[in-house]
Amino acid sequence: MAQYPVCMKYQVDLNARLLTDVTFMHAKIMEIRRIYLKVRCRRGLLMNALISQWRMDYKRPSATEYILPCCSDPFSFHSQTNQYSQVQVISSSTNMSTNETILVIGAGELGMEILRSLVKKTPSHSSTKITVLLRFATIDSHDSQKRKTTAELRALGISLLAGDIVTASTIELSKLFEPFHTIVGCTGFSAGRSIQVKLAHAVLDARVARYFPWQFGVDYDVIGRGSAQDLFDEQLDVRDLLRGQSKTEWVIVSTGMFTSFLFEPWFGVVDLETDTVHALGSLENQVTLTTPEDIGNLTAEILFADGPRTANEVVFVAGDTVSYGQLADIVESVLGRNIKRTEWTVKILEEELKSDPSNLIRKYRIVFAKGKGVAWDIGKTYNARKNMKVVSLKEWVSKNLK
Ligand SMILES: NC(=O)c1ccc[n+]([C@@H]2O[C@H](COP(=O)([O-])OP(=O)(O)OC[C@H]3O[C@@H](n4cnc5c(N)ncnc54)[C@H](OP(=O)(O)O)[C@@H]3O)[C@@H](O)[C@H]2O)c1
Repeated sequence: MAQYPVCMKYQVDLNARLLTDVTFMHAKIMEIRRIYLKVRCRRGLLMNALISQWRMDYKRPSATEYILPCCSDPFSFHSQTNQYSQVQVISSSTNMSTNETILVIGAGELGMEILRSLVKKTPSHSSTKITVLLRFATIDSHDSQKRKTTAELRALGISLLAGDIVTASTIELSKLFEPFHTIVGCTGFSAGRSIQVKLAHAVLDARVARYFPWQFGVDYDVIGRGSAQDLFDEQLDVRDLLRGQSKTEWVIVSTGMFTSFLFEPWFGVVDLETDTVHALGSLENQVTLTTPEDIGNLTAEILFADGPRTANEVVFVAGDTVSYGQLADIVESVLGRNIKRTEWTVKILEEELKSDPSNLIRKYRIVFAKGKGVAWDIGKTYNARKNMKVVSLKEWVSKNLK
């Protein structure tokens, strides 16, 4: 994908000028196969884009920026109202026009939800092809759970691509990634340290047009480097890599904690054996929660969104944002049981970590107890802006714990 500085105003006949200029760029830069233009139109302008064999009508009620996918030459734009002077091409790039080829890396808890949602939301009549990268041992496995997963993937029409993100070199991964327009990372930290950085390098080397790295979690920018959870520094390394280039568009979806995490016995926050909520830090501390199903749905929505695309930004989503005190109230009211409330302060948790310094769960607890970058206002999220239904904590508890 290449970006072109075409911030020019078309004060005269748009049709002629645009055709000339883009044809010129096309001739000059041989590798272009698709050109992608961001066009700003005057309020009320009805625009008709005639692009290769595709015909698209754009009608916008207000001044807005929107993106026109253009497929090689010849192509041209017409304005039905002859208001050419109000149209301004503000940027262009190649290889950006469609999400034709999508690769999801990993089909675990989150990957499966993202894959299901991508299939569900694939625009009808599109030629979008979805592929998942799995280890050969997983594709070939006799394990009943893995066979169930691969059978579901095949039934959904998803192609399986064999690859191992640990043993493959960056160059090998880059070769695997090259045919894809969009890549979504869904392997979490399960593959080990340095793998997310390696994946980011391979994606950038492959000149993939759009990348959703595995960052479905907290606000790593706010938490910063050197937190108790040292794995988070790698997430910042990935952000630095993506922000330091302009060839691959990236989207980070910040989701907070998976809702079910709060109730995992090993996480220790909600202990249903003793009817206790252990607040991380304090009862007033807040945490943002989203279910993997909602994350899948929201990620697919962002990926396929019409109109201005989300690019080079961190998008915040949330199923709910609650304090640990509210969490205890919800569990108490839904289950109809008295819930004890205790606070695991940062000091207590840091002492606990000292006795087992490599314990990942203890590290997570401290980050959440510090209360920085782990909660955001649900009213300002992508799902709130789009008025999308998500599962609240109360709904999750009612459905899963009753
Ligand atoms: N915000 C949060 O709270 C949050 C965010 C993410 C994850 N989590 C938690 O973390 C856990 C992990 O969730 P997840 O969906 O990220 O991961 P997961 O369920 O463990 O799935 C990881 C996927 O990566 C694949 N994978 C692992 N190593 C690989 C390799 N070397 N090469 C290719 N593929 C490889 C796995 O394939 P195989 O089947 O071959 O192993 C699997 O498909 C879950 O329990 C989840 O609750 C929480």
